[in-house]
Amino acid sequence: MLRGKRVLLIISGGIAAYKSLDLIRRLRERGADVRAVLTRAGEQFVTPLSVSALTEDKVYTDLFSLTDEAEMGHIQLSRNADVLVVAPASADILARMAAGMANDLATTVLLATDKPVLAAPAMNVRMWQHPATQSNLEVLRDRGVMIVGPNEGDMACGEYGPGRMAEPLEIVAEVSNFFQTASGPLAGRRALVTSGPTHEPIDPVRYIANRSSGRQGHAIAIALAEAGAEVTLVTGPVDLPEPPGLTTVPVETAREMLAACQSALPADIAVCAAAVADWHVADAANQKLKKADGQATPTLALSENPDILATLSKSGPERPAVVIGFAAETEDVVAHAQAKLARKGCDWILANDVSPAVGTFGGDRNTIHLVTPDGVEDWPTLSKRDVGRRLVQTIIERGPFAE
Ligand code: CTP
Repeated sequence: MLRGKRVLLIISGGIAAYKSLDLIRRLRERGADVRAVLTRAGEQFVTPLSVSALTEDKVYTDLFSLTDEAEMGHIQLSRNADVLVVAPASADILARMAAGMANDLATTVLLATDKPVLAAPAMNVRMWQHPATQSNLEVLRDRGVMIVGPNEGDMACGEYGPGRMAEPLEIVAEVSNFFQTASGPLAGRRALVTSGPTHEPIDPVRYIANRSSGRQGHAIAIALAEAGAEVTLVTGPVDLPEPPGLTTVPVETAREMLAACQSALPADIAVCAAAVADWHVADAANQKLKKADGQATPTLALSENPDILATLSKSGPERPAVVIGFAAETEDVVAHAQAKLARKGCDWILANDVSPAVGTFGGDRNTIHLVTPDGVEDWPTLSKRDVGRRLVQTIIERGPFAE
């Protein structure tokens, strides 16, 4: 994935700088060319000699070095890379990046670059949680800077919490993912995927839910990201890890899911794989419902939830170019799916049998019938991962973006 890719690694000051030495090795193992800039603070933690030995190149440290400027100006240094990685990114360098400062070689390069930037923050927990750092991150994210980590754990300063730099392999995964995204067949397309069940509260401790595991929706989101799409995954409560390389928005209720989907628009592709509850409890209690002697069993009044698929299908000028839904059925699978296609106004429906005997919910495999206005295509039983890949392939070959 990284063969021939040029990575400019900026090592700022922080104890995590020692991990950046390993990061250089991991990137180079995968074929990347790594050139390094070491800040003055970075030099307190790792020496230019170790960095240089690992990159097998000179290390750039000084903005006003006549020799470096004669060999390669700092502007060229910043442009001669395919991606800039700031690891560790200290609170200080993040603040200087957000403010657009150029008071050393690292920040000058970062300001002069026209290339994507990935930052791996590492700092003390309180520094990380400080509103100043958080607002700098927001500024940087809005400008398109990619952020990986930090992770939670024991800190070198003796505290515990978020602030540890992402592990070298996590940073490598993020860099690889960036290149994959930049070159896949769906590069430049935005995709929105809903996944998992919704939880509709009855009171603060009880809720109505369903058996959806989120595995199919998550697999579709991953397959879209693998094909290069920029994916937002809006997911109800699931017991699955957040897939790397995409934006995950966790929600609980159908109404929250709709709001999250609407704020993820515009999108080119929408896939509604969530098992959204059709109803919510009309007046969910603010306090835990108690049983009391002699009182009648409570009755739950339900109100209809918004239909996310139908809303997205009819979202006017913001309507994604392709909107795909599922039809989870326990009988007359295809007939119900065809009716749903018409009723919801989506483009395609993936119909599946969710009878307990078939075991789709929570299982690993899925038997899909692709229902489109042109007809029905029966897919063989596939793993949920392969269903995701096949769907993405179908979007590429037969969707609105096909040549
Ligand atoms: N869906 C949705 N919002 C809802 C209900 C369903 O987005 N409030 C989407 C699901 O994500 C799925 C499709 O609509 O893509 C069909 O879901 P399904 O539960 O099979 O259908 P329902 O609309 O609930 O219809 P029915 O209960 O009659 O089967």
